[in-house]
Amino acid sequence: MIKAIKGTKDLLPSDAPRWHYLESIVKNIFSNFNYKEIRTPVFEVTSLFARSIGEETDIVGKEMYTFEDKSGTNVTLKPEMTAGVVRAFIEHSLGAQQSLNKLFYISPMFRQERPQAGRLRQFHQFGGEAIGSASPLLDGELIQIAYDILKALGLKDLTVKINSLGIPETRESYKNLLREFLKDKKDKLSEDSRKRFDKNILRIFDSKIESDQKLLEGAPTLIQNLDEESKRDFELVKEYLTKVNIPFEVDPKLVRGLDYYTKTTFEIISGSVGAQSALLGGGRYDLLVEKLGGKSTPAVGFAAGMERILLACENERSFPIRENCIDIYIIRLDNNLESEVSDLASKLRRHNLKVEFDYLQRSVKAQMREANRMKAKITLFVGGDEYSEQKINVKDMYSSVEQIIKIKSEENDKIIIKDIRKFLSQVRQQCGWMTTKGKHCKKYAQPGSKYCHWH
Ligand code: HAM
Repeated sequence: MIKAIKGTKDLLPSDAPRWHYLESIVKNIFSNFNYKEIRTPVFEVTSLFARSIGEETDIVGKEMYTFEDKSGTNVTLKPEMTAGVVRAFIEHSLGAQQSLNKLFYISPMFRQERPQAGRLRQFHQFGGEAIGSASPLLDGELIQIAYDILKALGLKDLTVKINSLGIPETRESYKNLLREFLKDKKDKLSEDSRKRFDKNILRIFDSKIESDQKLLEGAPTLIQNLDEESKRDFELVKEYLTKVNIPFEVDPKLVRGLDYYTKTTFEIISGSVGAQSALLGGGRYDLLVEKLGGKSTPAVGFAAGMERILLACENERSFPIRENCIDIYIIRLDNNLESEVSDLASKLRRHNLKVEFDYLQRSVKAQMREANRMKAKITLFVGGDEYSEQKINVKDMYSSVEQIIKIKSEENDKIIIKDIRKFLSQVRQQCGWMTTKGKHCKKYAQPGSKYCHWH
């Protein structure tokens, strides 16, 4: 049997409501802040990622799905969105049309990492990029968007970490300070950190190895050595977060694994997902547009791992989900009425009603069971004596109250639809929500409402 590739995951119909819920919150909150959606291709030329994320990063060095296509072009499945968004921004001169572009996205990403809980090879990110302003208000705004989305999902165990990497000149002089500090300890560093010492010394802070972290104790921090401009901007970001009641920690070790950052960096960590605890990360990247061939344009953004977020939601049982209920189940009393039932279902569906019927020649009893399983609000019975008199029986599944309606009047379908709609508007329906404890809610909602008194 052929199985899905390691590190990839099928999203099954039972998972879909949770994804839809997450996506609807993401779209809603981004739209409140006036961010517009952007979609870029799943693959790009490899050099785009090498130039933006950085040759020496783990993503570019070890994790990209890169191949030559049949025409010999070297292409890569996108490991992140920022590079593609900036490419599109330059290619379509978005900056000339509007001086500030606020963009958001939801998309699959690809990184060949070692799979584990919360770490996949194909995963999904949502994220936002504000391109065209150096204002620290936008750094604050993006952290707020990220935080508000997680809060709207009901997550509690969150830590917002922020740092500033300064402007490149500050960073270069800081790297010398750090090199000086670590010079005598270099031999004791892990092999990976020794390599980073030569190529990208800041990333030693990212090391998960305890002995490396011990050697870093007492090291000078970048945040203590910031230039005036970065210091002022960082203060403004902190001020913004305080004003909008977002608790945060300054983490001088937050260097992030991508090379394009300048000034603010941030992550939101969850205490409920195990080792892969970063739900999202981002920061300012004021030099990237120019580096990729555009006009010098400041920018800031973040991206969030959707599988990780849903894992946190599941572990914290943070939001209830609603099952798919249907409006109408049509029960066929005579097997030879199959095409009439299908015809009636098509008409009702064209009138924006959610309708199902049996395609498997099942008995009336089995059809009733299906209607119950699908939590139909009402059932229509097609067949028997009534049908020969051009009538059908409609049943309210909550109260079992029935009503006869005429089907082939002169004004034809409109009459049935009107009668059925009227009947539907008067019935209760099974609530369909799962409780936060993962159990079905058995309560019924009032006519016209989606919620029972618990939800
Ligand atoms: P990143 O930190 O590489 O940043 O990824 C952002 C988030 O994507 C992570 O915090 C994590 O939740 C999720 N993620 C990353 N790798 C995986 C994986 N293998 N499996 C599951 N989830 C994963 C970026 O991608 C930057 N583009 C963020 C950004 C946007 N900076 C500025 N603008």
